[in-house]
Amino acid sequence: MTHILLISGSAREGSFNTATIKAFESVLPSGTTAEHLDFSAVPLYNQDREANYPEEVKAVREKIRAADGVAISTPEYNRSIPGYLKNMIDWTSRPYGDGAWAGKPVFIMGASGGAIGTALAQYDLKKAMLYLDARVMGQPETYVGGAGSKFPMDEKQQRVTGPLTDEDTKAHLTKAAAAFVAFITA
Ligand code: FNR
Repeated sequence: MTHILLISGSAREGSFNTATIKAFESVLPSGTTAEHLDFSAVPLYNQDREANYPEEVKAVREKIRAADGVAISTPEYNRSIPGYLKNMIDWTSRPYGDGAWAGKPVFIMGASGGAIGTALAQYDLKKAMLYLDARVMGQPETYVGGAGSKFPMDEKQQRVTGPLTDEDTKAHLTKAAAAFVAFITA
């Protein structure tokens, strides 16, 4: 069994990225297990706290260490990744030289209502992951733009209310999921 840890970079109710990572989960090939990472209890990073590394962060770091691969769907905030996600990555990259990410197969995707589907945020995330010596899968790139028309939405067009409906995106995620499992086991 290949165990994949799934991360949404958004804590928002009805998030595009939580819906996207769930859609990715739904098309994972047989022979895989998956788990969603809850990192909502991770405190704001402060280097002074490293000597007394918080238990709630240890648990998150262990889940990353134990996974065969990590798939992340990131929102784009001001053309980069949200502080919420970066904060968790900063914590789990520590202590220096013994973080959770070195050698870890990572697949990055993202969703937004905008046209470029978080392309710039994804490149920032890839930059951090490459620095941490993770094994970042290059293809297929996965930019879920115009996400408001790819999921069922509430009346205000703000929150996703159900699973992915867009068939092209489903087909793309299916291809990406198979590629990621092959990448992990290669
Ligand atoms: C955004 N949003 C946004 N969208 C985008 O495509 N590029 C961007 O740079 C930004 N910047 C940005 C900054 C901040 C502070 C917020 C709150 C929002 C819109 C963003 O894509 C939208 O809120 C998504 O719905 C966020 O992802 P989730 O929460 O739906 O997964």
